[in-house]
Amino acid sequence: MKTETILSIENLSVTYKVQGGEVRALDGVSLEIHKGEIVAVVGESGCGKTTLAKAVLGLQPTSTGNITLMGDPITGTTRDMGTKVGMVWQDPYASLNPRWTIARSMSEPAYLAGQSWGPFNSRRHAKRNLREQTFSTNTDELIKEVGLDSRFADRFPHELSGGQRQRVAIGRAISLEPPLIICDEPTSALDLSIRAQILNLLKDIRAEKGCAFLYISHDLTTVRFLADRIMVMYMGRIVESGPTEEIFSNPKHPYTKALLESAPSLDKIMFLPEPLEGELPDPKIRIQGCRFASRCVRKIDRCITEDPQATITGERTVFCHNPN
Ligand SMILES: Nc1ncnc2c1ncn2[C@@H]1O[C@H](COP(=O)(O)OP(=O)(O)OP(=O)(O)O)[C@@H](O)[C@H]1O
Ligand SMILES: [Mg+2]
Repeated sequence: MKTETILSIENLSVTYKVQGGEVRALDGVSLEIHKGEIVAVVGESGCGKTTLAKAVLGLQPTSTGNITLMGDPITGTTRDMGTKVGMVWQDPYASLNPRWTIARSMSEPAYLAGQSWGPFNSRRHAKRNLREQTFSTNTDELIKEVGLDSRFADRFPHELSGGQRQRVAIGRAISLEPPLIICDEPTSALDLSIRAQILNLLKDIRAEKGCAFLYISHDLTTVRFLADRIMVMYMGRIVESGPTEEIFSNPKHPYTKALLESAPSLDKIMFLPEPLEGELPDPKIRIQGCRFASRCVRKIDRCITEDPQATITGERTVFCHNPN
């Protein structure tokens, strides 16, 4: 049984103008995320993952397609977006204002949304005495909710470790309890032990708040731990999607298979995984057939001339003329 749809993307295309032509960063992407669901988008660098996040946030003009959040179209204004979407970026240091205390960073979304809790209550936030101000119970609760101690409230980002900073960024993202949280490679700047803690925190947040996640990553190991469903992206297109364990146990698209084989795992610890063969084609060049054909080991004649359409079997969708 499907629950309430939180995010719906239909036939989304984004084109960047670059020197010597255009790059189709997204080309006809469609997806749905339901209440409380964690959906991961995986794919190599440059396949369009961040562009997708930006489009959902209304930060990126789109060429075609519709995006709706809780049934409302995204209109391109981001002012009230904090109540609908929380965002966690890859680099927690760059996403926090270095001159703001943790309490102020965490309470700013509420201030912007007009809820005025935290050190912004009295609008004295611009003054030097911010450190002396007592912050409200809301900020205190939020700090604890993301696994930090209240004493972090008066600290500045440079006084925190990378993992602690990412907890603050997550606190900001969940502060207005949005129904959707987008994470763009939230653990790739962290070391392995911290990575697991952050993933557990995200899982706990989903369990407690029931929010949905669009989780962007190139790291299949973390995605397996976290996601309910996986969408595999290649050159601006979704090439395969389905429930996480099905994708891992039975990848149908040759690209998904190659991605899984190139991921390091414990049983391959003494061997470097085989890298994916060939280079990504120039994204400026329009490809007539399948985009993956130039690197595909299962390529047949049709792949060069004909763009593969979706084959849907149960919850799986594959775009391939010759799947595994
Ligand atoms: N502002 C821009 N102007 C022109 N081209 C861009 C711009 N932003 C992204 N691109 C291009 O669009 C494509 C998709 O980029 P995007 O940042 O969405 O990829 P990504 O999947 O997030 O990659 P990564 O894993 O490296 O973060 C790439 O070919 C990139 O070079
Ligand atoms: Mg990116």
